Amino acid sequence: MGQNADNRVYNFSAGPCTLPLEVLEEAQAELVDYCGLGMSLLEMSHRGPISEPIFEPIIEETRRLALSLWNAPDDFDVLFMQGGASGQFPMVPMNLLDEHSRGAYINTGHWVKMALNDAQFSGNIYQAWSGEDEAFTRSPDSSEIRLKDRTRYVHLCSNETIGGLRFSDFPGLDVPLVADMSSEMLARAIPWEKFDIVFGGAQKNLGPAGVTLIYIRKSILGSLNVEVPRTFSYAAQHASRSMANTPPVFSIWMVNKVLHWLERNGGVNEMEKRANARSKLLYDCIDNSDEFYRCPVQTAHRSQMNVVYKLPTLELEKSFLEQAAQHRLVNLRGHGSVGGIRASIYNAMPLKGVETLVNFMQEFKHKNA
Ligand SMILES: Cc1ncc(COP(=O)(O)O)c(C=O)c1O
Repeated sequence: MGQNADNRVYNFSAGPCTLPLEVLEEAQAELVDYCGLGMSLLEMSHRGPISEPIFEPIIEETRRLALSLWNAPDDFDVLFMQGGASGQFPMVPMNLLDEHSRGAYINTGHWVKMALNDAQFSGNIYQAWSGEDEAFTRSPDSSEIRLKDRTRYVHLCSNETIGGLRFSDFPGLDVPLVADMSSEMLARAIPWEKFDIVFGGAQKNLGPAGVTLIYIRKSILGSLNVEVPRTFSYAAQHASRSMANTPPVFSIWMVNKVLHWLERNGGVNEMEKRANARSKLLYDCIDNSDEFYRCPVQTAHRSQMNVVYKLPTLELEKSFLEQAAQHRLVNLRGHGSVGGIRASIYNAMPLKGVETLVNFMQEFKHKNA
């Protein structure tokens, strides 16, 4: 198989998605013989040898980097678990709710609908706001969210990866937030004081699929539901430093490398600036296209990670995708449930990739409008 770095395309996939080339090359170089030990990290026990553990320092460093690079306060820890963000949908109520309390959900689209569906099996939950009647084109103000008594947490999705909308500001409520930030992990600064839990899979901003990061407020660990199987228990995973069962070694190792890359590239504040610059280029192109390209999301609520738009006809969208691929701009098809075009532009997407896409869009419009 060829290993040609010059052959890389601009990959706008929503996840798994583009990763920094230098991270891939580093992993490639270290994969077969890890640190001269004569075996790959992927072939070693995550625990041993006890005298000189190899993986434990890696997971420990990854934990410290994940906390410090996102400026999480001392009261937070991060767990590494499997099952994806979807696995967290039932795990959150399983751990946080008892028979008296309930969870509220702010329905901004596909991923909250999934959370609502899966959470109902492990606790008493309800919808505190829904954007369904407005075709999920915005997130709500705090004043619109209707909470019932005995609400333990409010679940929201900070960025709807499919609908392309986000919370520009997080609601200020009397109840702690639990945020699915799958598509914005370490991509923006957040007000930690509002959250008890922030979770997301690695496969967009942080590495390959296979590991889910759960940032959890340590002071709640003592009051969580104890009747939870060990693998799914936040308290048990915390007590065993995310090794209550075999951790996804490869994914954590890659997240470690991506976090070092993020640190070398200026941290979360710089990532947020870059995300602003990338998304502005695309939205300006859309808004200045005389409605040839149309983004359905209200301006103040538009995602900085997943830019969604439509063209005047399905035929034009088809030929847009075909011609984009010829320009080495790939994976731009919108999610099957909404159609259209979606450009996912996570931390590792270079500005050059977006500039190339915008040039292509202008050219395509010029020829087809
Ligand atoms: C916002 C959001 N939540 C949840 C998920 C589900 O993640 P997973 O496939 O890791 O379970 C995704 C996947 O794309 C997502 O974008």
